[in-house]
Amino acid sequence: MVVARTRAEALDWRRQMRAQGKRIAFAPTMGALHAGHVSLIKLGLEKTDVAASSIFVNPTQFAAHEDLSTYPRSEANDLAKLAEAGCSFCYCPLPTEMYPPGDSTRVMVKDLSHILEGEVRPHFFEGVASVVSRLFLHVGPDVAVFGEKDYQQLLVIRRMVQDLGFGIEILGGPTLREADGLAMSSRNAYLTAEERARSAGLARVMRETAALLEGGAGIRAATDAAKAEILAAGFTSVDYVEARRADTLAPFGLECAPVGASGRLLVAARMGKTRLIDNVGFVRRG
Ligand code: PAJ
Repeated sequence: MVVARTRAEALDWRRQMRAQGKRIAFAPTMGALHAGHVSLIKLGLEKTDVAASSIFVNPTQFAAHEDLSTYPRSEANDLAKLAEAGCSFCYCPLPTEMYPPGDSTRVMVKDLSHILEGEVRPHFFEGVASVVSRLFLHVGPDVAVFGEKDYQQLLVIRRMVQDLGFGIEILGGPTLREADGLAMSSRNAYLTAEERARSAGLARVMRETAALLEGGAGIRAATDAAKAEILAAGFTSVDYVEARRADTLAPFGLECAPVGASGRLLVAARMGKTRLIDNVGFVRRG
């Protein structure tokens, strides 16, 4: 596997791939890789000839009070996992490659960036869109793969790619979970053993609530009950539990989801000091 630290090295690799007529799939990450990340590489390889990834803990998507300095870093381990998954290239840029001295350009996807996660983390999606657009320019993939685990992020990237005309196909990969249902996340490493055990309650409540919504339960009643159950499962606080339209994340604006509609149930909750997010899809049955 080729590891590039500079934009010039990334461009060089991509030119070689182009010359060989190879199509590139790209799954960007912030490292501390788990099976969820690896699944995105494999998904990309089903669609293209070669897989690329990146490891960059992007400072612009962290607020001052967030965990930039303590975010888990394990580059050697991560590179081994990528190589083992069949990844041919990993971009691990120096911060100045992504944000050159004097840099003052940002990419902002309006509206979608300021609901749900964006209400709690106002600059988060601007940081994500800014770094992903640069990664796309440096790596130049044909296909890029993002996890449904970060469902709102996936929609923000789709919107950005459509609006800026990147000409990159965006694929969403299903959320990989631990045996007890907890969505895999680099941040799960922050949990104490006791917190880790309690955290399984989140996925359980999400599953049960999605089933109720599929059966036609009232949205307000179901999400209020879910919030109470998440707290009862031992979570410290709940930032939001929302059932939204799957394609836009707009509220249904109705008492219950209309028959046949696709929805997404999204949650953010804190377990001690760790903030966990998760989401599941649902389709209202007739
Ligand atoms: P990171 O949190 O490292 O996630 C990288 C990719 O892995 C994202 O597309 C994310 O949705 C996906 N992912 C995370 N957990 C997953 C799981 N359990 N199952 C399947 N996929 C999962 O998301 C980011 O990094 C950053 O915001 C990034 C896009 C790299 C921009 O900095």
